[in-house]
Amino acid sequence: MANYGHFDDAHREFVISRPDTPLPWLNYLGQDEFFGLCTQTAGGYSFWKDAKLRRITRYRYNNNPMDNDGRFLYVKQGNSIWNPGWKPTRTKLDAFECRHGLGYSRITGKKDGIEVEQLMFVPPQENLEIWKVSVRNKTKKPQKLSLFSFVEFCSFEALNDMTNYQRTYSIGEVEIEDSAIYHKTEYRERRNHYALFGCTRKIDGYDTSRDAFVGVHNGLHDPKAVLAGKCTNSHAYGWNPVGAHQINLTLKPGQEETFAFVLAYIDQGDLPKFDAPFVMNKVKGREILKKYSDPAAVEAAFTAVKARWEELLSTYQAPSVPNEHLQRMVNTWNQVQCMATFNLSRSASGYETGIGRGMGYRDSNQDILGFVHLLPERARQRILDIASTQLSDGTCFHQYQPLTKKGNADIGGDFNDDPLWLVLSTCAYIRETGDVTILDEVCGYADKPGSKDSLLHHIETSIAYTLNNRGPHNLPLIGHADWNDCLNLNCFSKEPNESFQTTGDVKGSKAESVMIAGLFLYAARDLVGLYKFMGQAADATRVQGYYDDMLKTVEEQAWDGAWYTRAFDADSNPVGSKSCKEGKIYIESQAWCVLGGAGQTNGRAKKALQAVDKYLYTPEHGCALQYPPYSTYHLELGEVSSYPPGYKENAGVFSHNNTWIHIGWTMFGEGDKALEYYLSICPSAKKDHDKYRSEPYVYAQMTASQFSPTPGEGKNSWLTGTGAWSFVVASQSILGVQPDFTGLRIDPCVPKKWKGFSVTRKFRGVTYSITVKNPKGKSKGVKSLVVDGKKIAGNVIPLPTDGRTAVKVEVTLGA
Ligand code: BGC
Ligand code: NOJ
Repeated sequence: MANYGHFDDAHREFVISRPDTPLPWLNYLGQDEFFGLCTQTAGGYSFWKDAKLRRITRYRYNNNPMDNDGRFLYVKQGNSIWNPGWKPTRTKLDAFECRHGLGYSRITGKKDGIEVEQLMFVPPQENLEIWKVSVRNKTKKPQKLSLFSFVEFCSFEALNDMTNYQRTYSIGEVEIEDSAIYHKTEYRERRNHYALFGCTRKIDGYDTSRDAFVGVHNGLHDPKAVLAGKCTNSHAYGWNPVGAHQINLTLKPGQEETFAFVLAYIDQGDLPKFDAPFVMNKVKGREILKKYSDPAAVEAAFTAVKARWEELLSTYQAPSVPNEHLQRMVNTWNQVQCMATFNLSRSASGYETGIGRGMGYRDSNQDILGFVHLLPERARQRILDIASTQLSDGTCFHQYQPLTKKGNADIGGDFNDDPLWLVLSTCAYIRETGDVTILDEVCGYADKPGSKDSLLHHIETSIAYTLNNRGPHNLPLIGHADWNDCLNLNCFSKEPNESFQTTGDVKGSKAESVMIAGLFLYAARDLVGLYKFMGQAADATRVQGYYDDMLKTVEEQAWDGAWYTRAFDADSNPVGSKSCKEGKIYIESQAWCVLGGAGQTNGRAKKALQAVDKYLYTPEHGCALQYPPYSTYHLELGEVSSYPPGYKENAGVFSHNNTWIHIGWTMFGEGDKALEYYLSICPSAKKDHDKYRSEPYVYAQMTASQFSPTPGEGKNSWLTGTGAWSFVVASQSILGVQPDFTGLRIDPCVPKKWKGFSVTRKFRGVTYSITVKNPKGKSKGVKSLVVDGKKIAGNVIPLPTDGRTAVKVEVTLGA
């Protein structure tokens, strides 16, 4: 088994020790509005806010695993050319290391006694990235070399950039001033922004024409200018503008030279656009380069990135968990993934092009569950943005663009689970903050411009939507699909060029979803809790009535004998039932019926989980989505039957839904099972990286299942709802620190052999230092809760009323 690297937990880094990882292993730079994707070989691209509408550097498609564009440094020393990140030249290095850290990546390559370190990060609240570069002569002789930088610019609108060459090859414009290369395509017309790629040190040459730097028939692995050891000072007119600098260095033995490159997105704001015809006003660009020409400013910016992450992560830290994988995921990497999914939803990764899906309605609502503790203010705004893409009848735009915040008309709505997720995100926000004022915030409906409805109105509209759209079994109608985008029961598509997600008439349709029924139970129970917290007893009772009614329907209509049916198709035939030839049992309806509280009094919930264990689970890979996979395409089921067996929604291990089962086990006090299941999909616990292939530090959306020819192969890393839900599992369900309306609830569910652990949790301005002891070897049940020396009844820590900001909590399990 090849070894590609290891976790450096003390520094919160993953250290990649060889560049040829089984797939590109990605990291994200940036946490506010400027983002960069950065792989272990410096591949990737950057954008401001929206990977489609404000793309700064180009990334040529279809690029996984090729990963062909990026933030490249070339070294020319004698006759050899190489990159510290190995690619694109792939010249063999004497040493290589890439440290992916929190919001930064540090790549170090060494060859023939020269070491080049490239540290890439985005300073907090700034719209730029810095590459701090150190070149070291590790030999005992003076060394001469040339260093070249390289990025390829994107003409900002990424889809146009990759498709509309008849225009884009004629619009490229740049300006050069000293070491600053300004990319100003379309600036003369409607854009009020431009990109800057500059160096903080004097340069010895530059190029802005790709043809001049790379060569018409060369590639990035053998760029003409680097081979020649000389940039041509080219000026790009149209075609493909690039940014390349040349720096000639003579280093004494042991000498190091440090400087920086800055890649910035600059909005001109109210400043005059031009100094003279065709000469842009570069005041802002100059200021930026001046600022970072001071090495202390670069250091301070990097220190700020680290400090910011430490501060964010200090909200939840569990320093002494008896399992190393859970510990590092919950403390570091899982929270990092939650930040990425919150910021980017499903828009830009190695698998999401940044030009397709923007923010997903259901996705972003779920992402909040794992993010809200980090930056509740930003979660608040996001919830309001999402709600504003709902229509007044309750349907929702399935996706929206982050820049415009407008619903995406191409995909439209009618994914009938969408509205309910808003209830979950809103309740999670209020549990975290206690801030019920969010409910009064005005966020009108997308189809009623200027409407003044409140968030609470949206919540009620969402609940009403499910109640009012039910089918022959009185179960919720599914629409185009529910959480499982591929369960397209109204689609009936025979044309390969149709979209499964939008084809089919859902008006007057009859197909129903048991998963939505379970989700409704969960959402309604959440809302009952919220109304009680607000002292609105009558509303609580009203919504409890909806809950009871739906529960009755689920138990009467959806129990298949040993598990919950998944759905009823357009002809009211069951899907996910023992009567089906394939696809007899699905995971989502077991999960959501259990999570929603079904099967609690009649033993069905436990049976449903046991059925998952029996038919879907393997300890190596986790739970497949259903069983048996579909071997043929089913017109009446849609995309779920389109995938080859064992991949994606056709019985692949879809990590996201596994997490709901993990919560299910903890509801039954099955702490050993919960951890075993947790580890089955945990990236840090994957041993054979040649088989798993994906990053060991973040969840992948999918792992090929036991039913596939390539079991255990991970795919679609980073942007998956698994991020948020795994954090919920680890932090709340297993370690048991649960924000609730009236205070922190403590309810761990752990393996019996765990002797104890501790958690520090900042919650509503108070730092709770929680120690859990498990002297009797139990999994669940709080026997005693001692808060600042006083024994408390129940397991909710009351909020301090005397201004205390630090509270000590001692928990003993074993009730
Ligand atoms: C994928 C789903 C995805 C959907 C919408 C399908 O092809 O299998 O996971 O949610 O497309 O983009
Ligand atoms: C990925 C999508 O982003 C998400 O919305 C969906 O629930 C899952 N695929 C399952 O189909």
